[in-house]
Amino acid sequence: MKKSPIQKSSILITGGAGYIGSHIAKQLAEAGERIIILDDLSTGYTQNILVDDFIIGNCGDSALVSRILQEYNVETVIHLAASIIVPESIQQPLKYYENNVVNTCRLLNCCTQANIKHFIFSSSAAVYGSQEKCLVDENNVCNPINPYGRSKLICEQILQDITLATPLRYVALRYFNVGGADLEEKIGLRNPNATTLIKIAAQTALGIKPTLAIYGTDYPTSDGTAIRDYIHVEDIASAHLQALIYLRNNKPSVVLNCGYGHGYSVLQVLEAVQRLAKTTLNIQTLPRRPGDPAELIADNRKILETLAWKPQLADLDIIIQSSLNWEKNLLKSA
Ligand code: UFG
Repeated sequence: MKKSPIQKSSILITGGAGYIGSHIAKQLAEAGERIIILDDLSTGYTQNILVDDFIIGNCGDSALVSRILQEYNVETVIHLAASIIVPESIQQPLKYYENNVVNTCRLLNCCTQANIKHFIFSSSAAVYGSQEKCLVDENNVCNPINPYGRSKLICEQILQDITLATPLRYVALRYFNVGGADLEEKIGLRNPNATTLIKIAAQTALGIKPTLAIYGTDYPTSDGTAIRDYIHVEDIASAHLQALIYLRNNKPSVVLNCGYGHGYSVLQVLEAVQRLAKTTLNIQTLPRRPGDPAELIADNRKILETLAWKPQLADLDIIIQSSLNWEKNLLKSA
């Protein structure tokens, strides 16, 4: 990647020690940006941090955030710090509203006071909930079906209100199902208790977990299992680089789906894992997980038209192979 000169200003990434945040930090640092990571390490890992500037703390700590914004001459805030597990959000809704909504308000308050102009928000396809159409575009009415999705939608609405009242402009990226790992294998999804399908399937393929459950085989889909738009974490990261360029070009605030526009069922994912890992998974079938929609695929025309984003790794096998490689590395280093 072509290097640009180090900027005097910097980019604050909240949640930058996490899975997605660390890939964003790596790509932006490689592009010559100065990065400062703020992470409370509740689910992040210091091993994920490949940049020099890291502060342990919570994005809801207003005194700390205000100090960082000033001391590091922050130009853009990329906000990922959040609780992200859908089933947990149903059991502990207040944790999600506190961590995701209240802390985002606190962070935004610091940003507007510090006159931050650019904000990139990590939103989620979970804002859509169950939809009539399986291919969802940004104009679809959002109808989240779990507290996690609702917390992300509320943050988007807060951002919309703030842009009417202040000079802050934002890009909200609605991530679809993120998978895979850094192709250089330096970073990946470390949390052994992560609940995402590809992680668990890779762990099961390598014998780290004994069995894998399919949650629901009675969905109204071709094979009865739920369909999702799986996107490689490196492509998610590069969307943030393009969102940054977009905001620097003084373009207006926008909400964008961040997915490939095609989906795979749980069974298709498991078939690919078994083929690539050359193993047979021990699979059990369980009832549907509460809060899971049957099918969720991004209509990605808007992001392709709006940002100069060109997905490079839109291939389920690449996503799964990099996840398998990452799990093997984790096993070796354990
Ligand atoms: N699934 C299984 N077995 C598992 C894990 C998952 O059958 O062990 C199924 C789920 O029921 C779902 C599909 O695989 O139908 C994908 O599940 P994930 O847990 O991988 O992902 P989700 O779609 O539930 O959620 C993910 C992120 C959310 C984000 C959402 C956006 O975890 O943060 O994608 O689509 F909001």
